[in-house]
Amino acid sequence: MGRADTTGHVRERAAEASGLFAELREREFGYLDEGGHTYLDHTGAGLPPRSLVAGSARRITGGLFGNPHSESPASRASGDRLAEAREAVLRYFNADPAEYAVIFTPNATGALRLVGEAYPLGRGSRLVLSLDNHNSVNGLREYARARGAAVEYVPLRTPDLGIDEDRMHAALSARARRPGFGYGQRRPRGLLAYPAQSNFTGVQHSLEWIAAAQARGYDVVLDAAAYIPTNALDLGRHHPDFTVVSWYKLFGHPTGVGALVARRAALAKLRRPWFAGGTIYAVSAQAQWHVLADDEAAFEDGTVNFLAIPDVTAGLAWMERIGIDRVHDHVEALTGRLLAGLRTLRHGDGAPLVRVYGPDRTGAARGGTVALNVLDAGGRVVDERVIIRDSAAYGISLRTGCFCNPGAGEAAFDLSPRRLRRAARRRLGSLEDYLKLLHLPSAGAVRVSLGAASQPGDVETFLSFVAQTYRDRVPDVADLAPRLGC
Ligand SMILES: Cc1ncc(COP(=O)(O)O)c(C=O)c1O
Repeated sequence: MGRADTTGHVRERAAEASGLFAELREREFGYLDEGGHTYLDHTGAGLPPRSLVAGSARRITGGLFGNPHSESPASRASGDRLAEAREAVLRYFNADPAEYAVIFTPNATGALRLVGEAYPLGRGSRLVLSLDNHNSVNGLREYARARGAAVEYVPLRTPDLGIDEDRMHAALSARARRPGFGYGQRRPRGLLAYPAQSNFTGVQHSLEWIAAAQARGYDVVLDAAAYIPTNALDLGRHHPDFTVVSWYKLFGHPTGVGALVARRAALAKLRRPWFAGGTIYAVSAQAQWHVLADDEAAFEDGTVNFLAIPDVTAGLAWMERIGIDRVHDHVEALTGRLLAGLRTLRHGDGAPLVRVYGPDRTGAARGGTVALNVLDAGGRVVDERVIIRDSAAYGISLRTGCFCNPGAGEAAFDLSPRRLRRAARRRLGSLEDYLKLLHLPSAGAVRVSLGAASQPGDVETFLSFVAQTYRDRVPDVADLAPRLGC
C-alpha cells in the first residue's frame, strides 16, 4: 500500500471512530449534555452508560435472585450469575482459569486490604512501593511495619515522574536483613506494589517490572484501577500475582464492586486472619475449629453483592462491543488535544498560564489523566480551592488536591524526603500550618481526566474556562473555606 493510501486509511479510521464516540455520547451519556455538564473526572469514576443501567434493572426484575449461599432455585440463579461474572473477568483479561482466580470485593481498596492483611510479610522480608501510589496501596505499609518487614519507597524521576529505574533495580536487589529469604528460597522475599497507571499524572509505569520483581523473589501487586478504563490488560502476557480493580472506573456501573484477580499460587500463600460467613468449608463453634473454603470463596466475606456483580459481566460485554483499543485511541487523541491546548495558554506577556506535572505530550507512556496548576498573572500558583469554586460555577466537574496520591504530589512539587520528615516531626495544628512549613503555595494540583464518554467539546470548554477566568488576572482568594485534608 502506498503512503497516501495508508494516510487515507488512518484518516478514515479516525473519522469513523470519532463518529462512533460522538454517537455513544448521545446515546449512552446523553445526560451530560442534557444537564449542561462538562465531566472531567474519569479517573475518579467512569460514567454509567444508560443501556447498562436499564439492562441491570431488566435483569433484576425479570428473574428471581436470592442469597447465593444455598441450593434453592433463587440461590442457584445468583450462584450461576456469579460464576459467569468470574469467567467473564478472566476472559476479559485473557487470564488462564488454571492460573488465576477472581475474588469479588467492594472495590480496589477492599482487594488491597485482603492482600495486606493476609500476605506473609515479616521480619526479613520487604515491601517495595513506588512513590507514585494511591493511598489504598500506601496503606499496605502499615501491615508490613506492624509485622517488622522493611518498607522502601522507590522515588520518581523528574520532570517526567516515571519510576526511577536504577533505584527500582537497587530496591529489588537489596539483600533481606536475615538470611533465609531471597533468591531461590521458598519464602517470598516480599511484595512489590505499584500502579500500571498513575491516578495523579497519568504516567504509565512499565509492566516489565512484574517479571523483573518476580525473578528476584518478589510477589507483585499491580494496581490496575486507573489503567484499565482506557487500556487492555493482558494477563496471558504479564503475570502479576495480585491485580486490583474497581469496576465503576471502567464502565461507571455498578459501584461497590471491585476485584482481586490473583494467581492461585499466590493466593495459597495468604493466611487469612479470620473467617466469616461464606468463607468456610466447615466450622464448629464449641470446638473452635474451622476449615476455610479452598477456592476464591475463602476470600469473599459474607454475602457478596449478588445483584450487582452480574452487571460486571454486562459491563465487560459493553466494553468489548466498543473495543478497549478504540477507547484507548479516542482518549489518547483527546489527551493530545488537551495537552497541546494547555501549552498554548499564555498570559498577555507570554508567560504560561498552566504548569503540567509529568509528561506534557502524548507519545510518552501516559494515559488520559493530566495534573496541572494554573498560574496567575504574577506567575504564582492559583490556590486549588479557587479552581474548584470557579470550575464548578462553569459547570465543570474535575478534581483538585492530591488525589489520595501524596507521593506523586511530593515528587511533582519537588519536596525532598528530608524536608517532609522534618515537617512530619512538628506538631501541626492544621493542613495550612503544614503547607506554610513546606513553603507550598497550594495543597495540591488540578486533575483533568478523560474517558470513553469525553468529546472534543469537553476539552475546549476546559481550555476556554482557564483562559477566560485566569488570563492576566490574580484571582480573589477571599472567603475560601479551610482545607479539610489531602
Ligand atoms: C490508581 C488507583 N488505585 C486505587 C484506587 C482506589 O479505588 P477505590 O476507591 O475504588 O477502592 C483508585 C481510586 O481512585 C485509584 O485511582
